[in-house]
Amino acid sequence: MKILFIGSRLYDDVDFYVKQKGIESILTESNEEAINLDLPDQVFIVPRGMDGPKQIAVTQNVDAVVPLIGIDPPLIQVAEMKEELENDYGIPVIAADVRAVELTSNKINTKKFYNEIGVATPEYQILNSPEELTLDFPVVLKQGAGQGGKDIKVAKNIGDVEDYFKEFSQALCEKFVEGSEISIEVLGYNGEYVALPPIYKGETTIEGTHPLNKVKLGPCLINGLDNILIQQTAYKVAKNLNSDGIFEMDFMYSHVDNQLYAIEVNTRPNGTRYLTNATCNVNSLCELINMACGDFSLKNVFDRIEYYYSTEIPIGNYEGPEIKEPVKSFSNNDFIVHGPEGYQRITIRAKSKKELKKFTDDLYL
Ligand SMILES: Nc1ncnc2c1ncn2[C@@H]1O[C@H](COP(=O)(O)OP(=O)(O)O)[C@@H](O)[C@H]1O
Ligand SMILES: [Mg+2]
Repeated sequence: MKILFIGSRLYDDVDFYVKQKGIESILTESNEEAINLDLPDQVFIVPRGMDGPKQIAVTQNVDAVVPLIGIDPPLIQVAEMKEELENDYGIPVIAADVRAVELTSNKINTKKFYNEIGVATPEYQILNSPEELTLDFPVVLKQGAGQGGKDIKVAKNIGDVEDYFKEFSQALCEKFVEGSEISIEVLGYNGEYVALPPIYKGETTIEGTHPLNKVKLGPCLINGLDNILIQQTAYKVAKNLNSDGIFEMDFMYSHVDNQLYAIEVNTRPNGTRYLTNATCNVNSLCELINMACGDFSLKNVFDRIEYYYSTEIPIGNYEGPEIKEPVKSFSNNDFIVHGPEGYQRITIRAKSKKELKKFTDDLYL
């Protein structure tokens, strides 16, 4: 089995699994200074974009392509490459297709899609000027594209909206939901979908603090909200997207309305994966490799599901006890550390809530 991976930044997360499965690995990367270039069997430095990877996939006669791209902008080019490589060369590309990327990479398209398939999403309007606003404050102003909280502002009064319009000429304006933030990963391939356990990411704040900066917990345990409802809703969204790979979805639960709202979908490797992995033992990046190898099935995933309590805490720089090899896997560790220096996070798992608390206390977190 010979797989082409695109992008080296996340490659250390799967290196142990590639070796374990005896896969021949080829990797393309556009930055010759990038990390992890010493890990795969063969590396090709190519210009930015998907022309290079596409050529290499064909000339190196690979069995499948697994893009490991954790940012939004290249996803549409990846999707176009998927069409070409699958249709013209019969090489599977484990990623979302053009329709799924078009629906999810723009938050306005996603809102319309939720309405079409009957999934509740916060009330919204598209604003071309502050005067058009009819929703009550507070409201959340966003751009169609963006991740990590980029270009998002919670507006408490018309002055805030006017300030936002000094920078932008249009806004997706959404009713502010007071409540719990939830993420869930759905894996999909060849028409089969599995919704993994949902993760709790804290409460929304009027300052608009992004979940990246909060302590998170798995599985999600919210009074009055059944995880089955979250999983069923996520499953419905994924089934209607009807594509391949990882679907990470953000939801919010309003305690006052007793309503689950869908916020956005990311069709790529995402920050929820460490907590999902800790909570249920399924690593979404490794599953992409299983999809490439023809080893992905609902049975195969369900057979490996385990149940843990887990937490993820921003720590800056890790200075604790040594982590066993493979360092990005829970097979020999109860915790893993990830993220760039200065912004590292630790994800810990335990068999009970009590054990998890003791473990966290022992690590002085
Ligand atoms: N309607 C909303 N009500 C309350 N908070 C929101 C709302 N929309 C977004 N937020 C806050 O902003 C964060 C980022 O919004 P999101 O739409 O997920 O964009 P991004 O792609 O930047 O993650 C959310 O995780 C949440 O904290
Ligand atoms: Mg988000």
